[in-house]
Amino acid sequence: MVDEIKEKKRRGQLKAMLDSMVEGVIVLDTSGKLTLVNRAFEEIFGIKEEQVSEHSFIEAVRNPELDSFLKDVLETQRTREIELEMITPVERVFKIRATFFGKEEEGKKGLIAVFYDVTEIRKLERSKTDFVANVSHELRTPLASIKGFTETLLDGALEDKENNRKFLGIIQENVNRLDRLISDILELSKMESARLKPVKDFFKINDAVLKAVEMLGPGSKKKNIKIEIKIPENFPQIYANKDMLEQVFINLMDNAVKFNKEGGSVTVEALETPAGVKVSVKDTGLGIPKEDHARIFERFYRVDKGRSRELGGTGLGLAIVKHIIELHDGTVGVESEINEGTTFIFTIPKE
Ligand SMILES: Nc1ncnc2c1ncn2[C@@H]1O[C@H](COP(=O)(O)OP(=O)(O)OP(=O)(O)O)[C@@H](O)[C@H]1O
Ligand SMILES: [Mg+2]
Repeated sequence: MVDEIKEKKRRGQLKAMLDSMVEGVIVLDTSGKLTLVNRAFEEIFGIKEEQVSEHSFIEAVRNPELDSFLKDVLETQRTREIELEMITPVERVFKIRATFFGKEEEGKKGLIAVFYDVTEIRKLERSKTDFVANVSHELRTPLASIKGFTETLLDGALEDKENNRKFLGIIQENVNRLDRLISDILELSKMESARLKPVKDFFKINDAVLKAVEMLGPGSKKKNIKIEIKIPENFPQIYANKDMLEQVFINLMDNAVKFNKEGGSVTVEALETPAGVKVSVKDTGLGIPKEDHARIFERFYRVDKGRSRELGGTGLGLAIVKHIIELHDGTVGVESEINEGTTFIFTIPKE
């Protein structure tokens, strides 16, 4: 009797300790029955403590891969590790470490398994590899062109009065593209590594928009595009990092001009809302298909790669916009109809 109470108390202490862990923990006896689960495991897999003793593990979790892994640990009585994707109900990746414990003579044997959630780490690793692959690919295209035309010139085209300047022009264009690409990538990585909040000031939104118009220069005139700024002179000042906000307008308006039609228009408006300032940049251009809306803010994503590249695009403009707005605790979104136009809307909180 005394032993039973002692045992109960010891179990209670153990459970309290395991419940304080963020990792999921389970204990199985040698027949594969669950004898203990901690709170984290219950939450991750939606299993209740009451179900524990009634079911074998395989019944409770229904993952054959995990089941055979655990059986193997019980049979070989060794420590093993495995990484598994599991539906919990959302898909997550777990690193699971299972250790056999106990001694034959004491009659208490089984295994203890700890579930480390490595979903975020793996996601980060994957996006890093994707990024490197994308960057290499983007750099390779202009480099291949530079290489090709340099060789052509050296092989004799230098003397070809008709074409030599044209070839040099292509080389120059690609050098400029590389330059742009690298400064955009640096800009993004600078923002990503900045843990500090941006330095903010009060300024007129109009000033930032006008600066962007100035930077856009001849592009809009060439296509005969009308730029309308509908922000009243007395609109309250915005509290943000001025350089960054100028960059946002440059990137959005550059797109609005670039993907516009001949003779189209670009309209910039601002609205005061209880949450802050809501700004929209609207164009009358080609529009963006609905299925691409969610992806255009990704690095290097372009709806029409060929077309964007022709226009000198690197596919980083909107990724930079999203980053800047998020650094300001704001949000950014898009509304668009094919062939009618696109509106980018962002909000910046008051302070
Ligand atoms: N206003 C717009 N109208 C139509 N399509 C757009 C518009 N803005 C962006 N897009 C689409 O979204 C893609 C991503 O835009 P983003 O600004 O990131 O890249 P980009 O303009 O191609 O290159 P970069 O901005 O680096 O010069 C574009 O390639 C284009 O397909
Ligand atoms: Mg762009």
